[in-house]
Parts: sequence; structure tokens; C-alpha cells
Amino acid sequence: MAGSLTIRGASIVRSAGVHVGDVVVVDGIIREVAPSARSVAGEVVDGRGLVLMPGVIDPQVHFRDPGLTHKEDLATGSRAAAAGGVTAFLEMPNTKPNTSTLEALDAKLAIGAEKCVVHYGFFIGATGHNDDVLNAADKACGIKIFMGASTGDLLVTDPDVLDRIFRTANKLIAVHAEDERRLIERKASLPADHPRDHPVLRDATAALMATKQAVGLSLKYGTRLHVLHVSSEEEADFLTTIPRDRITAEVCPHHFVLDYEDYERLGTRAQCNPPVRGGRHATALWKHLVAGTFDCTATDHAPHTLEEKGKAYPGSPSGMPGVEWLLPLMADRVARGMCTWPDLVRWMCEGPARCYGIVGKGKIEPGYDGDLVLVDPRATRTIRDGEVWTKCGWSPFDGWTTTGWPVMTVIDGQPVFRDGVIVDGVRGRALTYQR
Ligand code: DOR
Repeated sequence: MAGSLTIRGASIVRSAGVHVGDVVVVDGIIREVAPSARSVAGEVVDGRGLVLMPGVIDPQVHFRDPGLTHKEDLATGSRAAAAGGVTAFLEMPNTKPNTSTLEALDAKLAIGAEKCVVHYGFFIGATGHNDDVLNAADKACGIKIFMGASTGDLLVTDPDVLDRIFRTANKLIAVHAEDERRLIERKASLPADHPRDHPVLRDATAALMATKQAVGLSLKYGTRLHVLHVSSEEEADFLTTIPRDRITAEVCPHHFVLDYEDYERLGTRAQCNPPVRGGRHATALWKHLVAGTFDCTATDHAPHTLEEKGKAYPGSPSGMPGVEWLLPLMADRVARGMCTWPDLVRWMCEGPARCYGIVGKGKIEPGYDGDLVLVDPRATRTIRDGEVWTKCGWSPFDGWTTTGWPVMTVIDGQPVFRDGVIVDGVRGRALTYQR
């Protein structure tokens, strides 16, 4: 299903700059972008005073469907995405069952077609015993390798197996880079009494060791590598020292907007893998994002219920929701003069589309898909646990007041979120990739 829509007089954001003008979408495809469009199609929306961006792409979410749908499912997760201006997402394989077979991938794509209100893509998960599946999974956005254990049981640590997967992979490998051996050693020898111990147990060295190992394998075999959720200054610095033509990397807002002290306030809500480190790490990650070290942002939206999070550390699960606050948190940094709207388009739209070769997404240009988000740059709202879209029902940013909120999210020329409400009946499509 595709729609037609004209948005007039908005501040249109492209990586090259911001220009006031009109965007005309015909049958789901952007047909005209001009200071004053000659054509008109569908409903005419007054965009004056609003910022118009390409739909945001979140390239790392956990939407828990199938199997863990008491935390989230593809309907609630994709609605949270739409409410946050996110028009496409890439979802991780640690569901139940794991997405580690072609049958599981097809089953997830079928659930996506039924439930998703924005566009969707899914990773195939490496088990160490499914290399054939990884390479046959043409419909996957990439291969996910957990090099350190996190939520679920997907894990590959044997150096020979990692070598083999990198040698034979025919598509992008995305890594959760934490060195499992070091994590095990530290868990056995260090106190784990409070969530503030989490970044000590899962330290920056563990992250750097695994990132270096993955980068080494990528350089050895020329394998396309994406380093997920880089969390430390050391890894970011390291990424500036290596050839990057086959290696991309991402950073998540929680790693630079939260601080070490937040463990006192948030407790297990701040617990995630890799951990929030704060301090010099948060400062460095932001600086590296602005300097171009990272190709994109992602949320690693990882919902767990408050009951689950209420278990005493370290029995509490790692992960926090985020998909609906990616754009608001970043727009707030624009409002505070820390970055620009074109930066946001580079990091949140063009960047993820380029990393994964997502066809037709990430830009407001004729011929691209009509996936858009209109943002009110002056709207100020306070995030509250009771007013979230995610099924888990809470936010690590509860009580934060930010400026710059989406007022309309459009996929394929159809509004899917408008003035605080999800529009009935709109469905996303499976993403396609140019490798
Ligand atoms: O904190 C995390 N939670 N990190 C991960 O790698 C997995 C995620 C989850 O699925 O809960």
C-alpha cells in the first residue's frame, strides 16, 4: 500500500543543508523536491515552521517477537518506532527461537508483514554451527555475532570458528564486541553487588579486545564488518587508526547521554551490555560522533519489564528501551546548539542506509521512498514512564524534558503517526539490500 502526499513550506533537511520548500510524494515515491513545487499530489500538509527529515532508520533494536512478547512485539515495537519518527528498523536475532535458521527468518518476516507499522529488516544470528544458513539467508540484513554473552544464548567465542565465519561470510557481519573470556574472569573475581559494578565487570578493555579481534578478521579477509554500539573511548580512538573502507561502526545515545553517576539514580534500569561508562567515555563518544568516527546511531532498544528489572543485580537482565527517544534526544542536542539537523540526517538516516545498503531509504531526493518525519523543533515535552509506547512501560529518561518532537511520521507516502496517534491500517514492508 502506498500513498500520495504533498508537504509545503517545511525546512527540508539534507546532509548538504536545510532549505525551505515542498516535497511531493506520488504513489509512495518522492517525485519532486523544490522551493515551490510545480506538482501536487494527495493531501496537502502545511509544513511551515516544521523540520522535514527523511524517516529515521534505527539499525539495532530487539523487538522480542516471537517468543518474548510479554516484553515487546513487532506491533508495539514498530508503533514505538513510528511515534519516534523511525520509519525503518533492523531487528536482532536473540528472540525465541533464535533467528538462526532460514525457517525462523521466514517466520519473523511473516510476523513483520502482519504486524509492523513501519519498514523492517532482520538479522540472522551466528551459532557457530550454522555457517551455511548465514550465507543462504539472502533476506537478512546481515549476520549478527555475539562475541560476548548477553541476553539469550547466542554466542560465538572459539577463535577458529570466528575466523571461519569471517572467511566465508557473503554479507555484512555485525558484532557485539565484548571479550567473553575476560568477562568470565572478571565475574569470577570481582564484586557484583550493585549495577554500578557493571561497567567494572564488563570493562572497556573487554570491549576493545573483541573490537580489535573482529577488525583483525575483517582486515584479514576483506569481510564487511559493522561494530555495534561502541561504548568506550579506547574503541573509538582505535577505529580512527584502521582502514575503514570495509568497516563501519555505530554509537547509541545512552552511551553518551547517561553518566556513571546515573547508576545511583536508575539502578538496574541503567544496566545494559555493553555498559554505560559515562565520564571520559561519554565525552569521547560524542566528540567522535561529531568528528565522523561513527557512521550511524542506533538505540539497541532492549525492553525488559520492570518486574524483570526489579531483580537484584546481577540477576537483573541487561537492556533498556530507546527506539522512541532516539530522534527527540538528538533533536534536543540540535536545540542546544551541540549539532545540526544535517548532522542528524547523516547519523540517523543516510548513515544506516549506507552501512546496510538499504534500498531507497535515507534521503529526501526524487526517486527515494516517501518515508519522512516532520518535527516540531520548538515542541518541548517531558518523558514519563506512564506515557511510553514500548510494551515494557518505562523509560531510562523518565522525567527528562527535551525540545524537538516528531509530529508526523510518513511511510510510503502515508502518515502512520500523526499528532500523537498511530493511524490505523498502515503496514511497513520488508527492507531490501544492495550488497
Ligand atoms: O543490554 C543488552 N540487551 N545488550 C544486548 O546485547 C542484548 C540486549 C537484550 O536483548 O536484552
